[in-house]
Amino acid sequence: MRFGQFDDENKEYVINTPRTPYPWINYLGSEEFFGLVSNQAGGYCFFRDAKLRRLTRYRYNNVPTDDGGRYFYVKEGDTVWNPSWGPVKTELDSYECRHGLGYSRITGKKNGLSLSVLFFVPVGKTCEVHAVTLKNESNQKKTFQLFSFLEWCLWNAEDDMTNFQRNFSTGEVEIMDGGQTIYHKTEFKERRNHYAFYHVNSPVAGYDTDRETFIGLYNGFHEPQVVFEGKSRNSKAAGWSPVASQCLEITLGPGETKELSFVLGYIEVDKSQKWESKSVINKKPALEMIATLDSKAKVDAELAKLKDYWKNLLSGYSVKSSDEKLDRMVNIWNQYQCMVTFNMSRSASFFESGIGRGMGFRDSNQDLLGFVHLVPERARQRILDIAATQFEDGSAYHQYQPLTKRGNNAIGSGFNDDPLWLILGVAAYIKESGDFSILDEQVPFDNDESKSKSLLEHCKRSFDHVIHNIGPNGLPLIGRADWNDCLNLNCFSETPGESFQTTENREGRTAESIFIAGMFVSIGPMYADMVERKGDKAEGERVRNEVRKMERVVLDKGWDGNWFLRAYDFFGKKVGSKDNKEAKIFIEPQGYCVMAGIGVASGEAQKALDSVKEYLDCPYGIVLNNPAFTEYVLEYGEISTYPAGYKENAGIFCHNNPWIMIAETVIGRPERAWEYYKKICPSYLEDISDLHRTEPYVYAQMIAGKDAVKPGEAKNSWLTGTGSWNFVAISQYLLGVRPEWDGLVVQPCMTKEVSEYKVVRRARGATYEITVKNSGQAAPAKLTVNGKSIEGNQVPYAPAGSTVQVTCEV
Ligand code: BGC
Ligand code: NOJ
Repeated sequence: MRFGQFDDENKEYVINTPRTPYPWINYLGSEEFFGLVSNQAGGYCFFRDAKLRRLTRYRYNNVPTDDGGRYFYVKEGDTVWNPSWGPVKTELDSYECRHGLGYSRITGKKNGLSLSVLFFVPVGKTCEVHAVTLKNESNQKKTFQLFSFLEWCLWNAEDDMTNFQRNFSTGEVEIMDGGQTIYHKTEFKERRNHYAFYHVNSPVAGYDTDRETFIGLYNGFHEPQVVFEGKSRNSKAAGWSPVASQCLEITLGPGETKELSFVLGYIEVDKSQKWESKSVINKKPALEMIATLDSKAKVDAELAKLKDYWKNLLSGYSVKSSDEKLDRMVNIWNQYQCMVTFNMSRSASFFESGIGRGMGFRDSNQDLLGFVHLVPERARQRILDIAATQFEDGSAYHQYQPLTKRGNNAIGSGFNDDPLWLILGVAAYIKESGDFSILDEQVPFDNDESKSKSLLEHCKRSFDHVIHNIGPNGLPLIGRADWNDCLNLNCFSETPGESFQTTENREGRTAESIFIAGMFVSIGPMYADMVERKGDKAEGERVRNEVRKMERVVLDKGWDGNWFLRAYDFFGKKVGSKDNKEAKIFIEPQGYCVMAGIGVASGEAQKALDSVKEYLDCPYGIVLNNPAFTEYVLEYGEISTYPAGYKENAGIFCHNNPWIMIAETVIGRPERAWEYYKKICPSYLEDISDLHRTEPYVYAQMIAGKDAVKPGEAKNSWLTGTGSWNFVAISQYLLGVRPEWDGLVVQPCMTKEVSEYKVVRRARGATYEITVKNSGQAAPAKLTVNGKSIEGNQVPYAPAGSTVQVTCEV
């Protein structure tokens, strides 16, 4: 069942009922000011940090779901309604929500009155615009009231939800022009040099800033007493919960339209210029901001700028094929999700509360794979920030804080896959940009400037970290966990609530990871390429030797007969083996070992992937392990805590499915790769949205697996490494256009269903227009470049500014 449809022309998803199977959300903002908005206008906004600088309040996991937002209420006669349907839930005559790139437009109609709200954050500004269009579509004059409403958060979102003994006494506002502008200035008097405001560019009939007065102490957002009585109280908040609501009295003749622009702004002022007069805040910067958005023409111009911003960003890679579901994912939504993930990391979604974790070392490096072609300069900075949280021995803080850019000890270190992801990120950046100078950048260890070394040296330490941490079988030690955060082989936890990731209560250098071994063989050579290009042949040779050695160890100690083992546990017993009772096979090593090329020539690779098909594949994707754990395995950590079929216990972790897709292209099986791609790709799941539940335009982290109570049900949409890896799989390996050190490789491995397609790829300032004729045979590509045929599958990089015509036949 569908709840809307794609509008590819406008790059929008159009939701045509408010009763989606879960709130379907969108993101506003691209630099510093961000907002989340659901199809019922739920959500919140913040400046840079969703925890420490939250501007509006939202109630996670509340009843009803999705509570708190920027709401508009209409009262016409006795009827009260919202264009977003909720919170009042008066049946509308029509409803539509269009989620576009960086904006959302919600339109409701009732009794001949149409109210449309466009939400967006103008590029370069620290505010949200709520542009309201009212239209009288009836043939009678209409007189009604429009109430705006939002609730301020007292800045620190965590404190705001917990510290009521203080917070109920601190709230302060200032009210200007009869309520046309409402300023939120809690804590401004003391240490904060920032405030927020809500403004409308029209005179108002009344206002409210005290929540209880506006809503009524025992009422919900669906029954605000001020709205139902049609009378603002002009309340001034003193402590408790400050809000901002304006009331406009409006009359529209038949066919008449009215445009209003509401601005929800965030202002920082210099410490010396905080006050206009005693206790009166300096409003100059707010008024300046308001002046840039006080007419429809100005708002339209800002929206046009935003659309240009996204058009330009997304022009780095596009495909035109006969499959519109493919095209819309590649051209619009997958890349958009990658950018949102770049902006948010794992901080704020409807599953991530914005007060939780910092940025992950491994996550950030992998996220980069999906946006490096869009914003290479910002990717460069991100790499330097990440590398600065590495320790001298090559290990790394597992997380760092985006505001301070410092490693955070909450989770600590010792996730032994972390170091290698840095090499992958650096290689992806250089292949994209050609900027080898980044390797010479001096980067601190543990953010200590006195301990700075070149980024190339950081990569060496990453590589050597594996070599210095080898276990009894010659395989890499797993540490606290590898990619799978829940396979904690050095944590035997029997205490409820204890963190599996930070409790390391077994001292041991025995538990080993075949997955890290696969990474080492796949990613190690990228480091060798880099040092060789820097002229150090001997180091390159050393690295390649180590890699060859590891490859042999994997085949010798990491092979279980029909698939790759997952690990050796603390006692040296096999994990992910036919000998195990449960979880006999895991997905991760099958993907990464084959991506590394291990066993491709000798047949293990194909066997492993056939086993994936046989034991892990299901109608909704590839599950993480099989059989699912049904009992708690003390020596494995968190993994078996999850009920069967969910999360890391045999859920479909959409992050690692693309490793199998890529692995299938490595052994030349396009149909399998394609089948796996379509199984988890959201645009192909639109028809089962009722089961899938999360947005059909973005990937979710997890889909419940075959052993779950509800197979096919997704959770945790938006902020996941799934976005970047699926983009890598489809754009670089199936469609087959990927940047290498010296040229753009064009080597499709694409289903015969798509027999012809065209890719336009921007790389290093040049544009490549690539026309592919595809037989569906995984054969070496035959290429012509500007009409001349070339040897091999690599199109040499052309000068910036040029356009290169490429044809490709497979
Ligand atoms: C989740 C993982 C996550 C980890 C760290 C675990 O409970 O299952 O997916 O990576 O916590 O936040
Ligand atoms: C989510 C985490 O953010 C990521 O780092 C990890 O690899 C996966 N969960 C799998 O555990």
